[in-house]
Amino acid sequence: MQEALNRIDAVRAKYKEVYGKAPDVVVRAPGRVNLIGEHTDYNDGFVLPIAIDRDVIIAASKEDEAVLKMHSLNFESSSICPLAKIEKDPANPWSNYIRGVAAVLEEKGISLGGVAMAIEGNVPLGSGLSSSAALEVAAGMAFQALFGFNMGGPDMALLAQRAENSFVGVNCGIMDQFISRLGAKNHALFVDCRTLEYSLVPLPESGVSVIVANTMKKRGLVDSEYNTRRKQCEDATAILGRQIPQVAALRDVSVADFEKYSRFLPPDIRVRAEHVVTENDRVLKSVEVLKSGDMEAFGVLLNQSHESLRDLYQVSCRELDIMVEAAQSIPGVLGSRMTGAGFGGCTVSLVKDDAVSAFLKDVSARYESRTGIKPQMYVCKPESGAGVVGAD
Ligand code: GLA
Repeated sequence: MQEALNRIDAVRAKYKEVYGKAPDVVVRAPGRVNLIGEHTDYNDGFVLPIAIDRDVIIAASKEDEAVLKMHSLNFESSSICPLAKIEKDPANPWSNYIRGVAAVLEEKGISLGGVAMAIEGNVPLGSGLSSSAALEVAAGMAFQALFGFNMGGPDMALLAQRAENSFVGVNCGIMDQFISRLGAKNHALFVDCRTLEYSLVPLPESGVSVIVANTMKKRGLVDSEYNTRRKQCEDATAILGRQIPQVAALRDVSVADFEKYSRFLPPDIRVRAEHVVTENDRVLKSVEVLKSGDMEAFGVLLNQSHESLRDLYQVSCRELDIMVEAAQSIPGVLGSRMTGAGFGGCTVSLVKDDAVSAFLKDVSARYESRTGIKPQMYVCKPESGAGVVGAD
């Protein structure tokens, strides 16, 4: 809490130093960790992420001149662009996420005036905790607070996703932006990524903890492999759609139908589809077991998800597997899996409270002795989604 207040003060102070006046608004948007439902969002499926207590803070005011002025505290760098011609800044790639949101708003006919912003974040970059979604959603919140348009949560998430897809050029699904905007304290968010209907699933406030372990391996292959997986899912949908007419996405394929028709799929596509179909099923089961408070059963589903991502969807890597194995070998760990797109980044583990200190010590030591890399660990509490700081 104190750290958050210090960071907000630091952003305000930097704003004043750079622009010579106090900011009119300060907003924040969090990163996320997905508990279960991986690589399901772009298959119209189900996800169950939480927002975490690491976020992006933006202090902002309107400017007379029709320009977007941005200053990053993390990069100690400034970037500026005219609103009439919003283009990427290759020297300041961090600014592209904000430029993208402004460009999409203009495209939608929501006209912006000039803005000056100071930006700071503590979501680790390139670690699969959605620092980019946090930045896009924070930018959307800042524009909304300054220009008074009133966008619902799902629409704000769609806006941020569109900025990432069409301006930044990363073909992500809706999960990261959605949870960053709509997360809630002490709850996971169950999202139907087709209808964008969502509901809050309470997580116990004591007894078990969520631990995020960062392999510190940057996610190298992720963009090209992500796009290949998406294409394979589309191919599987087309083939299964010929057998089962109502199939418009892998979300429409039940486990029973998959067993019946999977022989029509080439082997490399079949394993990808099997992951998505069974993962959707695991998300639905997770919501049920969480409602009944059965954390052991939830842990088993997390372990199954990892196996499926490793063996069928093949988006894990040596470092993620070592971290998961180390976690699963600690008594009191109910389940552990890679989280996010894969190929590096973080794992998420469900750990009994009395095993947390053993986890932090022993999993770190085992991981480091096998990989030579020092990991980072965060004990996470589900936090609220984006908002105006000081407004609630
Ligand atoms: C990345 C994408 C999300 C989602 C996950 C995998 O985080 O941004 O949309 O597809 O990978 O579940």
